[in-house]
Amino acid sequence: MPRTEAPVGAQQWVPAEPTSIDQLKSAAAGCEGCELYADATQTVFGRGAPHAPVVFVGEQPGDVEDQQGLPFVGPAGRLLREAVGDAGIDPTDVYITNAVKHFRFELRGKRRIHQTPGPAHITACRPWLVAEFGLLKPKIVVILGATAGKVLFGPSFRVTQARGRLMPWPASAQHPEDFPVDEVQALATIHPSAVLRADDRETAYGGLVDDLKVAAAAVR
Ligand code: URA
Ligand code: SF4
Repeated sequence: MPRTEAPVGAQQWVPAEPTSIDQLKSAAAGCEGCELYADATQTVFGRGAPHAPVVFVGEQPGDVEDQQGLPFVGPAGRLLREAVGDAGIDPTDVYITNAVKHFRFELRGKRRIHQTPGPAHITACRPWLVAEFGLLKPKIVVILGATAGKVLFGPSFRVTQARGRLMPWPASAQHPEDFPVDEVQALATIHPSAVLRADDRETAYGGLVDDLKVAAAAVR
C-alpha cells in the first residue's frame, strides 16, 4: 500500500458481534488495517481483567512489547504498575491497552527508534479500541498521554490542561458518535514514558500518582 493513501482501517477485521476479549485479540492478530503490521513483529492487544472497571489507554507498543506481544511490559510498563499500586488501584481491577496496536518505528542501523503514530494510524486502529470498550464496559478510562487523549477527545486535546480531573466521556469527545459505547468517566494523566524522560523524575512520578488517585477514588 503506498504510504500516501489513507489506510483501509481495522473495521473489516473486527468480528461483527464479539463475545470476548480473547476473540478480539485473535482477530486483531491478522489485522492489516494500516501499513504498520508489515514491519512490526506482531499485534499487541490489550490485556487484563475481562470486566475491569479501570481501563488504561496508552499510545502504542514499544520495542519490548512488540517482541513479547504484550502491552506495557517494558520500562514504561514497570513504572506504570508501580504508580497503579502507589495510587491504591487494585491491579486486578485493571485492563491495559493502546490506541495503536502495532509498534511504529524507524530503523537506524540495527536500532528500532520509536515513532509517534500519525493521525491516519490512530483512526485506522480505533475500531479495536471501540470494540474493547464495548465488551469491557469500564467505569473509568485512564488516558496516558497526548496520543490516547487525541484518540478519545480529538486533536485539540492537551494533557497539561486536562489532567487529574474526571471528565464525562464520550459525551465530551469531539465526535461522540465515533464511540458507540456507554457513558463513562475519563481521566487523563501524563504518559509513564514522560516520567522516565523527566529531569525531575520524582516530581513527575508524584504527579502521575496524584492523578491516578483521582481514578482510584472514582472506582471505590
Ligand atoms: N508505551 C505505550 O504507550 N504502550 C506500551 O504498551 C508500552 C509503552
Ligand atoms: Fe491494524 Fe491497528 Fe495494526 Fe494498523 S496498527 S495494522 S489498524 S492493528
